[in-house]
Amino acid sequence: MGFPKGFVWGAAASSYQIEGAAHEDGKGLSTWDTFCQKAGTIWNGQSGDTACDHYHRYEEDVGLMKQIGLQAYRLSISWPRVVPQGTGAINPKGLEFYDRLTDKLLAADISPYVTLFHWDYPDELYRRGGWLNRDSSDWFAEYVKVVVEKLSDRVKYWITLNEPQCFIGLGHQFGFHAPGDKLEFAEVLIAAHNALLAHGKAIQAIRAYSKIKSQIGLASVGIVNVPATDSSEDVEAARHAMFSVTSKDCWNNTWWTEPVLFGRYPEDGWELFGSDIPPIQDKDMKTICQPQDFLGVNIYFGQRTRASKDGQPEAVPFPVGHAMTAFRFPVSPEALYWGPRFLWERYQLPIVITENGMSNIDWASLDGKVHDPQRIDFLHRYLLELQRACKHGVEVHGYFQWSILDNFEWTEGYKERYGLVYVDYPTQKRILKDSAYWYKKVIASNGATLGKL
Ligand code: FCB
Repeated sequence: MGFPKGFVWGAAASSYQIEGAAHEDGKGLSTWDTFCQKAGTIWNGQSGDTACDHYHRYEEDVGLMKQIGLQAYRLSISWPRVVPQGTGAINPKGLEFYDRLTDKLLAADISPYVTLFHWDYPDELYRRGGWLNRDSSDWFAEYVKVVVEKLSDRVKYWITLNEPQCFIGLGHQFGFHAPGDKLEFAEVLIAAHNALLAHGKAIQAIRAYSKIKSQIGLASVGIVNVPATDSSEDVEAARHAMFSVTSKDCWNNTWWTEPVLFGRYPEDGWELFGSDIPPIQDKDMKTICQPQDFLGVNIYFGQRTRASKDGQPEAVPFPVGHAMTAFRFPVSPEALYWGPRFLWERYQLPIVITENGMSNIDWASLDGKVHDPQRIDFLHRYLLELQRACKHGVEVHGYFQWSILDNFEWTEGYKERYGLVYVDYPTQKRILKDSAYWYKKVIASNGATLGKL
């Protein structure tokens, strides 16, 4: 019953989304700080200036994690808080914040999983070309070294980049996210290539400077195709679609996972992108393809797929009235079965679900509690599917619920509430939602309560 022995139960958040203290203690500006200042970028003109004020309230927040019984917490480091200009001078106060947070977590018996880049890019480096600059991967490696030298006597788990599909695609091709650029596709691919180089060089830096043996992975967006039926044709169609590149954007798995894990760009993407692909230097693919210990994937939903008459993958829309989260993602628990399964079959690398969760319309009821039955049902259904994957031999090492706290949901501002813990932003009061108490039982039983609660 339950999940495999040693399975890790956690929750996640990221620096810009929860820390606040955007202009304190020597922190430099990030592209999200400047992007939020631009009119019309963020819902209701909001920003992460204060967010959950986690920078000042981290002790209370770690206390809440402990109360929920988390075994691990996935946090991210704000690059400009640690190296305000992106390269060069270090900000000791910024670094000390993560030092104290690490100690606090370990004292609570919570294992830190540290993401080195979850989108808050130093504004100063953006002015020097950002990800378009060939030097950007060296800038990143320099910052990674600083962090690793400080924390690696205690931190074992590292995640290089969070969702390159999003910060390159949404940030540099479509302009919805910081820095808000709408580049030509050829330039988007340069930025993508440099981000992949940054991933590789970050791993090299961690391996070179870590004081203990580390475990390293990427957190990719898990774009999941779920077979519409169990027929072998539909399963094959979904598998094929999941590992294909079919449009000139960043929204696919393989343009990111194959260089990183196989040391080459996928052939179909290579053909489709053609002359837009930048010149690749000889050693680049070797640098990008560093040995990794796990594949992190953020999975929120799946796309139903079947084999058309000619055998090609074909999208199958969800029926009218199908359940949706407040963010308007279709509720599709099978994504946590097929996603890990297909990825495991192809890459043979242990999977960590680095994010999964839902935004819900939560508020504090008259009884002072936050009742979120939809989130409980959502997590329950998804975790049962993940359990099924484990039972079928897929090696899954851990699961991180997104998110520990309600937080700043990028362009959606504070409209979307993803937390296990409710945050009343004007007072910064935290309230554990019903789902937090439910998750506590799941963790304590290593998932054996699933199907029964
Ligand atoms: C993911 C991001 C994370 C959060 C969730 C809801 O794409 O990695 O920061 O916004 O979506």
